[in-house]
Amino acid sequence: MLKKQDMGDFCLQVCTNLTCCMMGSDELIKVIQEELGLKKSMELTPDKRFSLMPVQCLGSCDTAPVIQVNEDYFEKLNPKILRELLKKLRDGVPVKPGRQQ
Ligand code: FES
Repeated sequence: MLKKQDMGDFCLQVCTNLTCCMMGSDELIKVIQEELGLKKSMELTPDKRFSLMPVQCLGSCDTAPVIQVNEDYFEKLNPKILRELLKKLRDGVPVKPGRQQ
């Protein structure tokens, strides 16, 4: 759980445990890989802003699928909402953690 390398401004921790997996976390990882050009776990974007880190259960299974961005949870995500969230983070637009739908 300790990060020994630079994870950038936004560390995207995607829960890949059972409930989130059943609710589409694989699709969320694909969106992050497509949008940010990340190919593997723990990779950092060239601008050092984003990193991707698949993680085990974040303890919010009832609002799966869940991503933790730094200290904040973003819950009940889908690919469309995640794309919008990533755009806001890229553009420096304030985002609201919690349930997204
Ligand atoms: S399985 Fe994802 S939060 Fe529990």
